[in-house]
Amino acid sequence: MSAPPDLPDVVSRAFDVSRKAGYVSFCRNETGRLLAMLAATRGGTMAEFGTGCGVGTAWLRSGVRGDRARILTAELDPKLAGAAQEIFHDDPQVEVLAADWSTLLDKGPFSLLFLDSGQPNEVGVDEVADLVEEGGLVVLDDFTPCEVWPPITGGRVDTLRERWLTDERFTTVEVMVASDASTLIATKR
Ligand SMILES: C[S@@+](CC[C@H](N)C(=O)[O-])C[C@H]1O[C@@H](n2cnc3c(N)ncnc32)[C@H](O)[C@@H]1O
Repeated sequence: MSAPPDLPDVVSRAFDVSRKAGYVSFCRNETGRLLAMLAATRGGTMAEFGTGCGVGTAWLRSGVRGDRARILTAELDPKLAGAAQEIFHDDPQVEVLAADWSTLLDKGPFSLLFLDSGQPNEVGVDEVADLVEEGGLVVLDDFTPCEVWPPITGGRVDTLRERWLTDERFTTVEVMVASDASTLIATKR
């Protein structure tokens, strides 16, 4: 057995900032590695709704190839946004906005959109379909794996997951990133 691969430097810095801020609501490393891999397939502008303290942004940044792709990320809580800005203050490829995610509505189309504002019902497929370029990706985090159809969460039909998995504008798959966690990845058709 060998140790898992080290965290990228930018992700370690984001964890340090999170720790200082006492903030723990960040994406898990399994999702982070998936974000990095997906970001490595992208050019253009990527976006994140809900920066938190910048851990997910850092994972995306760790995957970016070259010096042209950009990441825009919006965080409603100005204190958290300020903390995340610290991580990327000297990085021209990342912009952290202290703002509601709707600020990003006129900044697309995006090559990748990570929806992680923690209020999933607010950001449905209709709200973002036109924000994503053709062939662009949408990533949604924090699902519990479910083998039945329609998907059930907390005893109710998970209509958000059901809509993403059936919307004809996207080809969407649910991917387990751990035995207790899954992510939706959607490609705009
Ligand atoms: C799950 S955390 C984000 C974690 C982060 N994406 C990561 O992977 O490390 C959700 C964040 O979304 C923010 N948020 C909630 N509603 C928002 C909105 N309307 N616009 C922007 N950010 C929002 C919350 O303040 C919170 O910090």
